[in-house]
Amino acid sequence: MIELEDRKMNVLVAYFSATGNTKKIAKVIESKLKQLNGKVNMFDISSYQSRENNLSLTEYDTIFFGFPIYSMRAPRICREWLQKLDGEGKKCSVFFTYGGFGKDPAHYYMKKLLDKRNFNLISTAEFLGAHTFNRSGWQAAEERPNESDFSVAEEYVAKTIEALNSGYMSKLKFKKPKYKSFMLDQAEKYRFRVITQLPTRNGADCSMCGICEKICPTKAMDANKGFPDPNSCIACFRCIANCPDKVLHTNDISHTFEMKLNHHKITKEGIDKLESKIYI
Ligand SMILES: Cc1cc2nc3c(=O)[nH]c(=O)nc-3n(C[C@H](O)[C@H](O)[C@H](O)COP(=O)(O)O)c2cc1C
Repeated sequence: MIELEDRKMNVLVAYFSATGNTKKIAKVIESKLKQLNGKVNMFDISSYQSRENNLSLTEYDTIFFGFPIYSMRAPRICREWLQKLDGEGKKCSVFFTYGGFGKDPAHYYMKKLLDKRNFNLISTAEFLGAHTFNRSGWQAAEERPNESDFSVAEEYVAKTIEALNSGYMSKLKFKKPKYKSFMLDQAEKYRFRVITQLPTRNGADCSMCGICEKICPTKAMDANKGFPDPNSCIACFRCIANCPDKVLHTNDISHTFEMKLNHHKITKEGIDKLESKIYI
């Protein structure tokens, strides 16, 4: 029994989730890891404070990172957090949730970043999740993640744990995307200012609980003013999703949904049929 305990890996699951999709997948990953490995530590990096202190990975054998996809990559604030970590040559895995558009660059750029930080990326996975901008009138992946995504998440953990235990050497290679990082930087920085307005208080029923300000991942929200600093707001909609009084809103961008579908050469039904995927 003691010998078995000794063989268990010390696993960390570190994830960012503004509106809950990535957290749902992280929870499935947590319970499958518990079943297969026993030990698992969860670390939610969505709050500003959680990403402030330097995280030492020395005590962990392996790390699962989880991020939503923003403008085809992990969010800038998550990439900046990763830039502060020393992978110490440890094996790791990354899972993403996304709303059905342009996910390939996320895998490619994540591998590049983790290589630089001295991590050994063993596997990645992508899971469908209702698009954050459905709150502004889009209709992408509305019912996701669902049971089929959760079973892919379980399979992803099983395959990754098997690879980790067998000393498997990763051959992961992702195709270089046509989108250069500076182009995606621009999209992430400006596009959402153009199409979505800032989350803004609109309604007399605000109880002034201050939750929106407390949970803002970038300290952008000002509860007194009822809107965030436009320079630091990342349009993650965490404040909107968590407002108990439902008084925070953004504008309706439903008219841009068709354009978005055309740009990515996909239909709403096509997105609904997309399956979550594992890369190992
Ligand atoms: C600013 C922003 C940019 C996004 N960009 C993309 C994207 O490029 N492709 C995509 O499929 N989904 C995109 N999404 C949707 C999210 O990836 C998706 O809804 C994700 O599951 C949200 O995760 P969370 O609920 O854990 O925050 C974007 C969402 C936001 C807020």
